[in-house]
Amino acid sequence: MVVVGGGGHVGLPLAIAFADRGLRVAIFDVNELAVKTILAGELPFREDGAAQVLRRVLAAGRLEASVDRSVVSRGEHIVVVIGTPVDEHLNPDPHAVPRALDECKEYFRSGQLLVLRSTVYPGVTRRVEKLLGGQGVDVEVAFCPERIAEGKAMQELFTLPQIVSARTPQVRQRAAALFHTLTDTVVELSPEEAELAKLFTNTWRYIKFAAANQFYVMANDQGLDFDRIRNALALDYPRAADLPGAGFAAGPCLFKDTMQLAAFTDNSFVLGHSAMLVNEGLPLYLVSKLEAKYDLANLRVGILGMAFKGESDDIRSSLSYKLKRILEFRAKSVLCTDPYVTVDQNLEPLEHVLANSDLLIIGAPHQQYRSLQPGVPVADVWNLLGQGTVV
Ligand SMILES: NC(=O)c1ccc[n+]([C@@H]2O[C@H](COP(=O)([O-])OP(=O)(O)OC[C@H]3O[C@@H](n4cnc5c(N)ncnc54)[C@H](O)[C@@H]3O)[C@@H](O)[C@H]2O)c1
Repeated sequence: MVVVGGGGHVGLPLAIAFADRGLRVAIFDVNELAVKTILAGELPFREDGAAQVLRRVLAAGRLEASVDRSVVSRGEHIVVVIGTPVDEHLNPDPHAVPRALDECKEYFRSGQLLVLRSTVYPGVTRRVEKLLGGQGVDVEVAFCPERIAEGKAMQELFTLPQIVSARTPQVRQRAAALFHTLTDTVVELSPEEAELAKLFTNTWRYIKFAAANQFYVMANDQGLDFDRIRNALALDYPRAADLPGAGFAAGPCLFKDTMQLAAFTDNSFVLGHSAMLVNEGLPLYLVSKLEAKYDLANLRVGILGMAFKGESDDIRSSLSYKLKRILEFRAKSVLCTDPYVTVDQNLEPLEHVLANSDLLIIGAPHQQYRSLQPGVPVADVWNLLGQGTVV
């Protein structure tokens, strides 16, 4: 098997999971540093439980990694899991996956199974089928979306049902057999159904977070603690069990996939755009509330946690950075810290931020902040410190 984009957050756990189940796997990635790091037995990012598996499969000789795309010619199965972000105008790029495949076209050969695993704009599977069809090689195409959450890949790859789609029953069966190496349950759909299934999965989650955040704002505007209300209404009440707590709903997937769906529906996705306004608006809402309560322009503000979610080192599309930008305009100064983030050279140690801030805001709910007892006010939408969520 060859995993194109196998140095990334989704590709690497998948590659080592297949290798650990006995397949010979080659990673192809354009990121030289990631490839070097992987070959040295290290993860380029945090992923619970993945480091030991990586070392095990390297030692067993079942995993290799390279920046040379000619490895594609050696794979019986080619899995593509490159990034598919929206651009700065929130447009999806339906050409991202076809472009990456076009770069590899001379290495495809008849009989290979190409599995698209990136989250794609609807219609991309059809586009890839046409692209390959026009090149005279008989490569079978399946779309099998990844649905793991970062940090949980090494459990969820083996427990989540796998959606498998392809144009013919034979190709679906071939792809299903591949994923049965990892997981017991496989659900079959057409490619068009599966493309929407993946976008609906992420968008549904994004909308749920938006509902919680909107409720938070409503309660908070009345000086009421949303977390107390939520705990009370959800207690032994199964129909509210999926109401999340409030907090920054960010990261590389939920927002952009909601925007992919919005673009697909000609920007008439009222619910999706409303969810975006609520979720992306939360940092500004918090700053405005703090400004009404404190003389913010004369205060030093510390942000605890810059990753997009708790226990993560991933800052892609993190709302902590949006919060930082707003505070840079409105507060005297801003100090940022995170125990996991390594790519931002402007972060300070936690002790420094605690000692030099007049006001603190929890940006990512890392567990280690739970035990803090700062002597200054803390805006804590997650109620991580147990002192309530009212800001
Ligand atoms: N991050 C998640 O939690 C998650 C979960 C489910 C699905 N997804 C989807 O999986 C896909 C990948 O996401 P990710 O978070 O792993 O992104 P990522 O940026 O971490 O990884 C993508 C990798 O692809 C490599 N790459 C880019 N262009 C390439 C090319 N032309 N040839 C070879 N390699 C190339 C990059 O160097 C990078 O290592 C996206 O479509 C995303 O929406 C992500």
